[in-house]
Amino acid sequence: MQLIKLDATPSTNSYLKELMRGVNLDDFTVVVCEHQTKGRGQQGNIWISERGKNLIFSVLKHIERVKTKNAFALNAMVSLAVYDTLRTFKIPQVSVKWPNDIMSGNKKICGILIENTLKGNDLKKSIIGIGLNVNQEVFSELPHASSLKCETGLEFDLELILKAILVQLKKNFERFEGANQKEILNIYNTVLFKKGVPAKFLTADGKKFIGVIVGVSEFGKLEIQLKDGTLCRFGFKELVFVY
Ligand code: BTN
Repeated sequence: MQLIKLDATPSTNSYLKELMRGVNLDDFTVVVCEHQTKGRGQQGNIWISERGKNLIFSVLKHIERVKTKNAFALNAMVSLAVYDTLRTFKIPQVSVKWPNDIMSGNKKICGILIENTLKGNDLKKSIIGIGLNVNQEVFSELPHASSLKCETGLEFDLELILKAILVQLKKNFERFEGANQKEILNIYNTVLFKKGVPAKFLTADGKKFIGVIVGVSEFGKLEIQLKDGTLCRFGFKELVFVY
């Protein structure tokens, strides 16, 4: 495994993307930095992280024998790698908020941005960007954000957590490439945030409603049961949680 350590860069995902243009990078090349000047989140959001306090890194993964339509299973597998690692560090009430936010209780402690390169119907390469809030204590204007330190009162060693996540990611990738994608989705469905309890949602066209999460389908749609028993499916970008 090649590990590139940087002081600052606009975004570790963008750094890997640029680097890939010039050279053939090894599988599992990792870029980690102290500070991002233009950290990127999902749906064009920005990712802000206090210098030196948190884990900010991206992993390049070469993918074999996985169809584009199964991209959600990859997403689930990455989320589970972070979930499993945080459980071993005894972080309280860890869950995965669909599609891939990692929560402790009602607070988001980790965001994941996966950017795939495709060839026809196949996934070829994946840049897996992970921002885990570790020792940051103040999140002004981010009422739903938290860190491992805020949730446990303890200071954590960033390198130790990075190593543990990378080991778990490797393990999960082996399972993933061994065509166990259904099994991964089943496990993902057992650790879903707010599963089985009434929760509020807002659709992209501005409708608020209450429903109960039943699970996530094979292709990554969130399945919600409404009060009248109807089952609705929502894709990423079609829905947000209100909490
Ligand atoms: C989200 O929850 O919106 C996803 C956040 C992903 C942040 C990480 S930090 C490392 C990598 N580099 C980026 O620019 N973004 C991801």
